Amino acid sequence: MAGAARRSAAKHGGGPFYQSFAALTDAVRSGEESYAKVFGAHHFAHMAAEPGLAELFHRSMAASNAMFSGVTRSVDFSRARTVVDIAGGNGELLSRILAANPGLHGVLMDLPNALASARPRLSEVAGRLTLVPGDFTKSVPANGDIYLLSRVLHDWDDEQCATILATCARNMPPHAELLVIERLLPEGTDPASLAILWDVHMLCNTGGRERSESDYRALLADAGFELTETHQLPLDAHVMKARRR
Ligand SMILES: C[S@@+](CC[C@H](N)C(=O)[O-])C[C@H]1O[C@@H](n2cnc3c(N)ncnc32)[C@H](O)[C@@H]1O
Repeated sequence: MAGAARRSAAKHGGGPFYQSFAALTDAVRSGEESYAKVFGAHHFAHMAAEPGLAELFHRSMAASNAMFSGVTRSVDFSRARTVVDIAGGNGELLSRILAANPGLHGVLMDLPNALASARPRLSEVAGRLTLVPGDFTKSVPANGDIYLLSRVLHDWDDEQCATILATCARNMPPHAELLVIERLLPEGTDPASLAILWDVHMLCNTGGRERSESDYRALLADAGFELTETHQLPLDAHVMKARRR
């Protein structure tokens, strides 16, 4: 599994992402992602048009599965009945949460190409899982107790993040908790983080960016959420818990 994920990551990184990185100078000068210039479409629109590429991408995301190993230790899911994973990709995080919490029901929401890729991987928890195709700029499922946004906000600029978080705020029940999982840029003189390299990657390939905890606190506050706790995960990732203010 780990070998297959690394192979997919190498093929994807050495393919479209490598071509996009060749135009890094343009991206740095203009602040706009080079991927769309090289391929004529945003990364996710390009994948939607090319199912083979989408499958490669969703498989390659598994190369950093280790990031998720601390989530069930850091978050108490015992009082939740339904967890909604917004743009949950290949379903790895949600399937780990469901496996560790046998009473939970899961909703995996993403674009159709991601759900097609996730479906065969989720057989062990299929009885407690609903797959919902959708667009997080329009709506997210309304019946959750805990919502996940894992490695989603870093794909987008602040304006697009505000749209996604506004959709969450509109559709989530008042009691629900939002968990944001991202690598965090160091604040001040904190030690270096893998987030610095990923910041360049996001600029080139999605037009997004990595952010510090303060940046996420501000984005969440603008959308009506309060960041209440942050826990470290492997690979310089963090899970940030937020509640409606
Ligand atoms: C970087 S991946 C993260 C996947 C997963 N959450 C994880 O951490 O492995 C971003 C996900 O956003 C999804 N996505 C992109 N645009 C979307 C949209 N408009 N609505 C819903 N999902 C979208 C992609 O299909 C992809 O699965």
